[in-house]
Amino acid sequence: MPASAVPGARTVAEIMSHPVITAAAMESIAETATRMREKHVGSVVVVDGEKPVGILTERDMIRIAAGGADTSADTVSDWMTPNPDSVASDEEVTDAFASLAEHGYRHIPVVDDGVLVGLVSMRDIMKIAQIQPAEKAAAEIPEGLEGVVVADTAIGDVRGREGFYHYRQYNAVDLAEKRTLEDVWHLLFEGSLPSVKQRDAFIETVKRLREIPADVKEILPSVAALGGPEAPPLDMLRTTYSMMGVDLDFRPWLDIPAEELRGQALQTCAVVPTLLTALYRLKHGLEVVDPHPDLPYAANYLYMMLGEVPKPDYARGVEQYLISTIDHGFNASTFTARVITSTGADLASAVVGAIGALSGPLHGGAPSRALDMLDAIGTADKAEPWLRDAVERGDRLMGFGHRVYKTDDPRSVMLRGVAERLGGPKVDLAKAIEKKAIEVLAELKPGRQLYTNVEFYAGIVMDTCGVPREMFTPTFASSRVIGWSSHILEQAADNRLIRPSAHYAGPPPPEPVPEPT
Ligand SMILES: CC(C)(COP(=O)(O)OP(=O)(O)OC[C@H]1O[C@@H](n2cnc3c(N)ncnc32)[C@H](O)[C@@H]1OP(=O)(O)O)[C@@H](O)C(=O)NCCC(=O)NCCS
Repeated sequence: MPASAVPGARTVAEIMSHPVITAAAMESIAETATRMREKHVGSVVVVDGEKPVGILTERDMIRIAAGGADTSADTVSDWMTPNPDSVASDEEVTDAFASLAEHGYRHIPVVDDGVLVGLVSMRDIMKIAQIQPAEKAAAEIPEGLEGVVVADTAIGDVRGREGFYHYRQYNAVDLAEKRTLEDVWHLLFEGSLPSVKQRDAFIETVKRLREIPADVKEILPSVAALGGPEAPPLDMLRTTYSMMGVDLDFRPWLDIPAEELRGQALQTCAVVPTLLTALYRLKHGLEVVDPHPDLPYAANYLYMMLGEVPKPDYARGVEQYLISTIDHGFNASTFTARVITSTGADLASAVVGAIGALSGPLHGGAPSRALDMLDAIGTADKAEPWLRDAVERGDRLMGFGHRVYKTDDPRSVMLRGVAERLGGPKVDLAKAIEKKAIEVLAELKPGRQLYTNVEFYAGIVMDTCGVPREMFTPTFASSRVIGWSSHILEQAADNRLIRPSAHYAGPPPPEPVPEPT
C-alpha cells in the first residue's frame, strides 16, 4: 500500500540504502565477491542498464564456495537469482517487511518505473521495528521473541538465512580455522585481534588468573560431594562460581570502576575451566590437576580434565570447537547475562544466570544427548526407522533445528570437517544419520527448515578428543563465558535497564477478592 494512504506511515524511501552496489550479469564471481567485501554489503543487484535483472547474495557465495566453483570463470548470471521481487519506494515499510518475511529474503531491490533506486534489507526494517510504539509492538511481538531486535551490539551477529555468523568484523569460522582461542578472546574483549606482542602479554595475564582462589579451592570437595554421581558439573560450577563472586567481593558494577569490572571478567573467563575440571575430577575421586604453566588454553583444559598433556590434534580440535562457540548473537544465556547486568548487578550474578540458561537441553544441553541418539541408533541401516519413529512420536532429534539458522549451521559444517580430520569410530555413522535425519525431518516436518546444529558434531569431536559426555555442556560453558563477559562489559558501558512488558492473558481484572471459604 502506498504510504501516502496511511498518515504517519514510514516509506521504503526513508530507510532504503542507495546508491546500490550493482554487478553486471557477465562479470566474474571473483570480481563481484571482491566488490561485496570492499563495500561491506551482503548482496549486489544485477542490472542491465538501470533495470534490475537479478540478485546475488552472500548466501549464494557460500553455495559457490561449498560447490568448489571456479570463481574467475563462473559469471554472476550462472549463480544469481533472476527476476528478483521488488518494492516501490513509496510503499509502506510494513508491506516491504511482509514481502521479505514471507519469502525469507534478507534484501529486496527498490524499483520505481523499472529503474533500480535503492535496496532495503531486513536489518534496515528491524531498526524501524525497534521504535514502534510499545502498545502496537506488544501486540505483534512473536512468541519466543523470534526475530525481535532488542539491542545494538558490536560483538557479533548471526545471519540465519545465509548460514553465516561473525565475531566483530570477522567470519567466526575463519577465526576458528586460523587463530587461537586467546586471540579471539582478545578480539572480543579489546575489539581487535592482538599483535604478536599483545598476544604474549595477554597470554601471560590470563595464565596468572587461572588459579582458583584458595578459599574457594578449599570448599570444592564439599560441593563435588553434593548430589550423587549424576550431579551435573555445570550445576556445581554455578554454585562454586557464585561462591567465588562472594569470596572476591564482586560488587554491583554500578558501584565500581570499569577497569575493575574488566579485571573480574578476565578472571572469570580464565578460572571457569579450572573450576570445571577440578569439580569433575573431585566428583570421580581423582586428584585435582593444577593449570599447566606452559600450555595454552585448550590444551591446558584437556590436561586439567584428563591429567595428561593431550595430543596436539586433539587440543586443536577442542580449541576450534571452543572458538566456534564463544558467541552467537542474542542467544538465551547471553540475553540473560545482559538483562541481569542491565540492573547494575555484580558480574557473578550475571554469569550465574547465564549458566542456568545454558544448562537447558534446548540451549546448551544437547551435545551429549545427540551422541546418546547415535548410540541408540547403533548402525546406519537402523537410522531411518529409528528417526522416523522418534519424530512421529513427537520427540525432537537432538542436534537438529535452530531458532535462527534455517540452513546449514556453519558451526556444524566446520565441526564436521574437524571430526573428519580427527577420524574416530563414530564419524561415518554420524554422517549417515545426519543425512537420514535431514530427509526424515524434511518429509515429516515440511517447511520447518530443520538442519544439523552445532551440537551434533560437537559431541563427536569432543568424544574423539577424550572429553567425557558429562563435560560436553560444561565445555560449551567454558568458551561461552568469554562471550557472556564481553556482552556484560558492553552492556555496562552503555546501559539502560532492560524491562519489557507482557500481554496479560488471564481472567479480566479487577474481580472482587473473595472471603476465604
Ligand atoms: C533448537 C530449537 C529449540 C529451536 O526451536 P524453535 O526455533 O523454538 O522451534 P520450534 O520449537 O518452534 O519448532 C518448530 C517446529 O519444528 C519442529 N522441530 C524443531 N526442532 C526439531 C527437532 N530437533 N526434531 C524434530 N522436530 C523439530 C518442532 O516440533 C516444531 O514442529 P511443529 O510446527 O509441528 O510444532 C529446536 O530446534 C530443538 O528443540 N532442537 C533440538 C534440541 C537441540 O538440538 N538443541 C541445541 C540447540 S543449538
